[in-house]
Amino acid sequence: MPFVRAFKITDLPPGGKKIIEKNGLEIALFSSGQNICAVSNICPHYGGSLGEGVFTGETVVCPLHFWEFSVVTGRSTNQPAYRIESYPVKVEKEWIWINLPEEDLEE
Ligand code: FES
Repeated sequence: MPFVRAFKITDLPPGGKKIIEKNGLEIALFSSGQNICAVSNICPHYGGSLGEGVFTGETVVCPLHFWEFSVVTGRSTNQPAYRIESYPVKVEKEWIWINLPEEDLEE
């Protein structure tokens, strides 16, 4: 899975969140201040936009029906049978890079 450049680290302050579209995927990024996490923006319940939810610590709450997800593991903390896709992130030369599955890459 290759890393894809997303945006500059200065565009995601500590406690911040941001939604981007990259290679056909809708991705929500969150900064806890110590870690930057990238997960699918699409809630597995009814498709709520997780990047528009309330984000505290390492948890985001879906704005539609309040399912909670760890942005670190992708697992739901109040609906244990569910999870969202999470993607490895690295910061290099002031840019945030996300490791996306190859089948989703644009040609
Ligand atoms: S759509 Fe996210 S909890 Fe229902």
